Amino acid sequence: MDIVLGLQWGDEGKGKFIDLISEKYDITARFNGGANAGHSIERNGRKITLKMIPSGIFMKEVQNIIGTGTVIDPVSFKKEIQNLQIFDKTIQPEGNIIISRKAHLVLPTHRLLDIFMEENPAYTTIGTTKNGIAQAYSNKILRQNLRVGDIFSPDFQSRAQHILDRDYKMLKDEGMIVLPALEEISKEFFDAVGFLKNFNCTETEIFLNTALSEGKKILAEGSQAAMLDIDHGTYPYVTSSSTTASGASSGLGISPKKIGEIYGIAKAYCTRVGNGAFPTELLDEFGDDLRMKGNEFGSNTGRPRRIGWLDLPALKYAVMINGVTQLVLTKADVLSGLKSVGVCTHYELKDGSIESVAGILPENAKPILKWMTGWTADLSNMKNISELPQELTDFLSFLEAELEIPVGYLSIGPGREQILKLK
Ligand code: GDP
Ligand code: IMO
Ligand code: MG
Repeated sequence: MDIVLGLQWGDEGKGKFIDLISEKYDITARFNGGANAGHSIERNGRKITLKMIPSGIFMKEVQNIIGTGTVIDPVSFKKEIQNLQIFDKTIQPEGNIIISRKAHLVLPTHRLLDIFMEENPAYTTIGTTKNGIAQAYSNKILRQNLRVGDIFSPDFQSRAQHILDRDYKMLKDEGMIVLPALEEISKEFFDAVGFLKNFNCTETEIFLNTALSEGKKILAEGSQAAMLDIDHGTYPYVTSSSTTASGASSGLGISPKKIGEIYGIAKAYCTRVGNGAFPTELLDEFGDDLRMKGNEFGSNTGRPRRIGWLDLPALKYAVMINGVTQLVLTKADVLSGLKSVGVCTHYELKDGSIESVAGILPENAKPILKWMTGWTADLSNMKNISELPQELTDFLSFLEAELEIPVGYLSIGPGREQILKLK
């Protein structure tokens, strides 16, 4: 099994890369997260953003798994499938998507609770995507949640309705002002559960391990990224799942011994949506310009992404905890035309100490920047590494030396063909 992971704060271009390389695999499998993800894929000049559907979906021969470590919102999933079928009428998702019976469900009240907590000053505001992710995962850990397999049991409707009634009452009692009618959200939920039943819901661990033993190739698709990992990210400003290579193993039920290549995706700069530490953040007009140039607006929520220079201490940490075997660097085209490009090599902490690998990453870590000579050429139509400007080649060599891994691919635009294989 090979794995594709985000190494920064999400939105590194995982969807584009997976769409490209999934043709080499028999199976792509999502192992974590839910509808908080937004993986954009451009095909024939049109763009779609996938949330739960694995990014191998456009390869007709590839089977797509939504694995055990994920959380599935049936309402959002139904809309996503409908959207996919509008985008590409030739796709038959029921035949091509297999869902873990052990994946957990996101209920409509989880979404409402997420909104409530984000908007209530009594709680820490994380800047979530408001998809009920933390609420579904926390109920899983509390052992109070429903799973995909439960939808086939005769008492599912009454068990789910009990939870909806209970949580709805709590929100009402807590004074949540804008609450849709309970009947409305319940109906929409049970309709969507009926839709979910059209899909093959099975023991994906057994399916995947059988496939491996038959010599089939699996590509695990990470959502979010290392710095948003529940354990290793910038807690509490993180997501609620394991976003790392070990998360792929546990989320799919595949032994770590079976892991091969680990592709780490990083932008040539950094972005972040939501709150939390971001040492290299550019809060000035220059950052605003880069946001426009890179079209840095959330694929999922449309929020403007925060922008910053490439952060090597954070990247070194992400490479280390994941055991990344090769880097895929995206959005090099966005930096084209700059006289110099900043890279943070160290942090200076409040007590004056210097850190070269991100630890806890306090809010006030001061970035120490190295300035590299920028590149000016329009990269977007380049087909060969020999065309790359020397300054960009130097930038890549510098990253390889610092991170001690090769840069295997360089992405130079959102399009499917706009990527160069370097190794
Ligand atoms: P993901 O969540 O990691 O799949 O990334 P997103 O799809 O949320 O965000 C990446 C955005 O950058 C999308 O709009 C992509 O179409 C776009 N993109 C990906 N690679 C490149 C690249 O090399 N250059 C440019 N300009 N855009 C890119
Ligand atoms: P992809 O897979 C970028 C961020 C949110 C927020 C924090 C918690 O497209 O890279 P959550 O809704 O998960 O409880 O929000 O995590 N976040 C993402 N940021 N890309 C994502 O996914 C994200 N998924 C969650 O903005 O800061
Ligand atoms: Mg995204």
